Amino acid sequence: MSRVAYVQGRYVPHQEATTHIDDRGYQFADGVYEVVAIHRGRLVDEQGHLDRLNRSLGELCIGWPMPPSALKVVMREVIRRNRIHNGIIYLQITRGIAPRNHAFPKTPESVTVMTARSTAPFDPDVKGVSVITIPEIRWTRRDIKTISLLPNVLGKQQAEEEGAYEAWMVEENGQITEGTSSNAWIVTVDGELVTRQASHAILNGITRLAVIRLATEEGIELVERPFSVDEARKAREAFVTSTTSFVKPVVRLDGDPVGDGEPGPLTRRLIEYYAAYLDDQDAA
Ligand code: PDD
Repeated sequence: MSRVAYVQGRYVPHQEATTHIDDRGYQFADGVYEVVAIHRGRLVDEQGHLDRLNRSLGELCIGWPMPPSALKVVMREVIRRNRIHNGIIYLQITRGIAPRNHAFPKTPESVTVMTARSTAPFDPDVKGVSVITIPEIRWTRRDIKTISLLPNVLGKQQAEEEGAYEAWMVEENGQITEGTSSNAWIVTVDGELVTRQASHAILNGITRLAVIRLATEEGIELVERPFSVDEARKAREAFVTSTTSFVKPVVRLDGDPVGDGEPGPLTRRLIEYYAAYLDDQDAA
């Protein structure tokens, strides 16, 4: 079946989906995006993603291209036309098309594109992955989900070249911010579940927020604070969270085993809770 994309009010064959060369997303990375998981035909945490999109747009003074209710209709239509049961939807809004000039165009009309694709469903028996650490070289507003992702791209490429799944970015003071496309978690040597608090330093992941809610509901103590590479090296367990990784155990850090080198018990519990949470998503 051929894929269908949404581009500015039209559903077009994916291969023919294009935008203008003067699109500010193309020239300046002047835009925002969301990636939403589809689990058994349902959008996972749809409202959380739309709230974050609203925040990203607001921070960059980009207008909503259409009311959120209309955007929801388009998302469902993209899923339907692509017959996605398990997968992801990618949604991007740029400031629009205008002759190249750094300052905002006077009458900007944002450009919205959406694509969707099938992916493997969430596997609660997921194997552990390797993570490397790299220097944090991004700007200081990582809370905005912009399409300006070059440092993330370079980091992920380095991870791939070194046979790792993800790269955790480390500030000059030795604190880990997050992964190139996921949030970072550890269970410390003292058994404390830690993830960095939401701030301008990280993207406040929707999966991260869901796992925080689930852990709290289950009475698992959790601390939101920065943690260092040293702490992570000594950690009993580690994992990443994201829309595309769900909850994924990290079993090696910079080549050394994390804990006993197997997915840890608390990580496995959280994976179970998250699997049940996915099955509980409201019907669209
Ligand atoms: N990335 N941190 C960064 C830098 C990210 O790019 C992402 C998600 C996350 C996790 O956020 P969430 O749980 O809302 O997916 C954290 C998406 C999946 C991507 O760029 O493909």
